[in-house]
Amino acid sequence: MKNKTDMTAFDKDDIICDCSGTTKGKVYSLVEKGITTLDGISRKTGTNSGCGACEYDVQAFLDEIVDTNDSYP
Ligand code: FES
Repeated sequence: MKNKTDMTAFDKDDIICDCSGTTKGKVYSLVEKGITTLDGISRKTGTNSGCGACEYDVQAFLDEIVDTNDSYP
């Protein structure tokens, strides 16, 4: 899995889900392991499983960093 955004392009300690305390760096590392969906990230970190307020932000971040072209060779 390739990320289309470099890890230095954002603050890896930036918390993207207040309920679970998940950081952008954690989401990025999961994407590198091939977990690229909102549901998959949620299962691993607990994002979007509390109040749900982070759903849009997590999806937008995934859209920003996941290289979808990599999925369709
Ligand atoms: S902020 Fe992520 S579930 Fe509440």
